[in-house]
Amino acid sequence: MSKPVAHPVNDEYNWKVYTQEYSHQVDEMERTAGDQGSEFLVTSWNVTDEGIEYHNKLHLNWRVMYSAIYDCKPASVFECGCGGMYHLKNIKTLFPDIKVSGCDLLQTQIDFGAKKFDIGEDILKNVSVRDFSEPVDDSLGKHDFVYSHAVMMHVSKEKGIKFFANMLKLSNKYVAFIEGPQHDYIKMLDDLGETDNWDVKELRTNSWLLTKKDK
Ligand SMILES: C[S@@+](CC[C@H](N)C(=O)[O-])C[C@H]1O[C@@H](n2cnc3c(N)ncnc32)[C@H](O)[C@@H]1O
Repeated sequence: MSKPVAHPVNDEYNWKVYTQEYSHQVDEMERTAGDQGSEFLVTSWNVTDEGIEYHNKLHLNWRVMYSAIYDCKPASVFECGCGGMYHLKNIKTLFPDIKVSGCDLLQTQIDFGAKKFDIGEDILKNVSVRDFSEPVDDSLGKHDFVYSHAVMMHVSKEKGIKFFANMLKLSNKYVAFIEGPQHDYIKMLDDLGETDNWDVKELRTNSWLLTKKDK
């Protein structure tokens, strides 16, 4: 019998075997950091009035997300599908006053990230394990800036739209996502009947910043 793969090209990832593959991807990106890869943690930086200067190599997607946070100046951020939690750690490093929290489907992802990226209790206490495509209750609270990176692109359209609806529900003001071409996220916003409630700005391809309109 053939070994299950974590990510079939055009279908929902196989999350049961995902963490092992994720850990290999992390190693590979670190190994090639000077080339097409990336370091994971911000280790040398400067936040100025003009923006963030990085003195170590970080993936463009992540810099785009952290710049959006710089511009929006939220008091709190919530990452939906936070995986290894290095974004939460980087955001805390860059903006120590922002409260960071998140959730992920898999305990294995949290356990892997906690060890690999030395995630402290200050962050871990605000991270829960849950399927974010299921209805969310008030226990997750509301947050100024709610985001996902590389999650909706890996789930079915049916789950993706529920996941997206939960992001909108949790947000006081901003929703951002950096995703892939698997879904039409702006059509999803329309299907949810939410188009009129948000100003929409494209951050990069398949990546959007939504700002809740004042009513
Ligand atoms: C490609 S990883 C990205 C992780 C992280 N956002 C990052 O940028 O490194 C996708 C993550 O989404 C999580 N995930 C998948 N479906 C989910 C769901 N329904 N609810 C919450 N998390 C989910 C997976 O467990 C995995 O950690």
